[in-house]
Amino acid sequence: MARTLACGTGTTLVILGAWGDLTQRLLMPALFRLHELGLTIGLRIVGYARRDENVDAFRAHIHDALKEFAPDFTAEKWQAFASSLGYVCGELTAADVGKLQPLAAPKMVFYLALPPAQFGPAAQALGEAGFTQPPAGGWRRLMVEKPFGTDLASAEALRAQMHAHWREEQILRLDHFLGKEATQNLMVFRFANRFLEPVWNAQHVAQVQITYAETLGVEQRATYYDHAGALRDMLQNHLMQLFSLAAMEPLSHWDAEVLRDHKVEVLRSVKAITARTLDRHAVRGQYVAGAMGGKRYAAYRDEPGIAADSRTETFAALRLEIDNWRWQGVPFYLRSGKRLASNCSEIAVQFRATPGAVHAENNWLVFRMKPDRAMMLLANAKLPGLELQARQVQLTAPYVSGDEVEFSAYEQLLMDALEGDRTHFLRFDEVECAWRLLAPVLNGWKSGTPDFYAAGSEGPETQNRMLNAGHAWRPIALAGGTR
Ligand code: BG6
Repeated sequence: MARTLACGTGTTLVILGAWGDLTQRLLMPALFRLHELGLTIGLRIVGYARRDENVDAFRAHIHDALKEFAPDFTAEKWQAFASSLGYVCGELTAADVGKLQPLAAPKMVFYLALPPAQFGPAAQALGEAGFTQPPAGGWRRLMVEKPFGTDLASAEALRAQMHAHWREEQILRLDHFLGKEATQNLMVFRFANRFLEPVWNAQHVAQVQITYAETLGVEQRATYYDHAGALRDMLQNHLMQLFSLAAMEPLSHWDAEVLRDHKVEVLRSVKAITARTLDRHAVRGQYVAGAMGGKRYAAYRDEPGIAADSRTETFAALRLEIDNWRWQGVPFYLRSGKRLASNCSEIAVQFRATPGAVHAENNWLVFRMKPDRAMMLLANAKLPGLELQARQVQLTAPYVSGDEVEFSAYEQLLMDALEGDRTHFLRFDEVECAWRLLAPVLNGWKSGTPDFYAAGSEGPETQNRMLNAGHAWRPIALAGGTR
C-alpha cells in the first residue's frame, strides 16, 4: 500500500535527548527524508534536552548533523525542514517538562532518545506534567528503544514505572530490526507464497540458522557494551524477533495484536534452558587480537574503556527448540558477534535431505540482510554430462531493484508511530518472555569466562558443540567476495 501523509498540522513529535547520538545519526536524518518526501508535512519537531541553548543553536547543531548523516542533504531542503524544529531545555522533572505545554498539540509523540536509566524518570515526568491525557480527538504516544531492562526483574520494574502513567497501548517499544525492509519481507514472503507453507515445518525443515555477524568491534560504546554484552545487545531483542517471525503461525489477518499474540506464542513454546542443559544451548565468546583484510585488530580487553579482565561476551550463540507440532525436533541456532570475519546477517532455513537414488545437497532458503539484501534458494540441478548427477545451484532474487524506493528502519517506524500502527513495535509480554527464556543463561554466565576467538574469525570453536550431528554453521567469511 502506498504511503500517504502520516500527519498534518496539529501533530508534534518531542524528542527527549535531542542533543544525543541517536537523534543526530538516525532520528533527524529519517525525519528529514520523510519531510522531503512530503510524508510529514505540518509535523512539528521539538527537541528537549538539558543543554541550556536556544532554538537557533539547536537548529545549527541539527544542520551540521544532517550535513553529515543525511545522504540527500541540500541547503534548499534544509531551509524547508529547519522551520519545523523547536527546542526546549530542561531536566526530567514534571516542572521542567511542563515547559513543553505551550508547544503542546492535540496529537503528540514523545521519543525517549535517552540513556536507559532515564526511561522511567522521563515517562514519569511526562505523566506528572499531564502529557499522557490527550484533548478530545487527539492522542499521546511514548516511543522508547531497547534495552528494555537488563533482565526480567529490571524489565518488570521499568514496565511498572511506565504503566504508572501510560497505558500499554500508548507505549511504542522500538526494535529497529522490525523496521528493516528485510525483516518485513520475511513476513510477506512467508505468507504470500503458497508453496512455502506446506514445507515450513519439522517434517521438511532440518534446522534454522539466524546469524548477525559484524566486523565492527566495540567502537565508542565501551561503557554500554561492557555491561550489556552480545546476549543482551543482540539476541534478547533483534535475533529473538527474527526467530519468532520465522517460527510463528500464519496470521488470520494483519492486526498488531494478532501478530504479537503469535510471536509470544512462539516464545512461550520454547523449551526452557536449564542450568543442566546450558552448555548445549548457549555459547559465549570474546575476541582476542587478530587480523582481517591485512589489518591487525586489538583484543576486546585492550579496547579503550574496557577492563583488562572483562568477562563480557562479544559473541553469543543459542540453540532454541520449540515444543509445538510445527517445530518439534528442529533446532533454531541464533548467533551474533563483533569482530567476526564479515558483515553477514541472514536467516537460513535448511530443508531435510531428499530420499531416493539421486544424491543431492540439502536445500537452503536464505533471507539475507547483509552484505546485500536478497533471497537465495540453494537448489539442485543436473550436472551437465553423461551421468545423472546433481549439483547445487543458487537462485538469487535481489530484494530491491532499479529505482524502487526503500525506507530505513527509523523512517518506517517513525511513520508507523505517527500513524498509530503498533504492528512493528513490541508488546511488553514479548520482552518479558525473551528475558524469562534467557534468565538461566544470564545466571549461568555470571561466573566463568567466555571462549576466546581471534578478531576476523568465525567465532569461538565451541559454538559447534550446540549443533546436531550433520549440522554445520554456514560460513561467515566471504568466499571470493560472495557467500
Ligand atoms: C544495535 C546494537 O541495536 O544494533 C549494535 O546495539 C548493533 O551493537 C546494531 O551493531 C546493528 O544494527 P544495524 O541496523 O546496523 O544492522
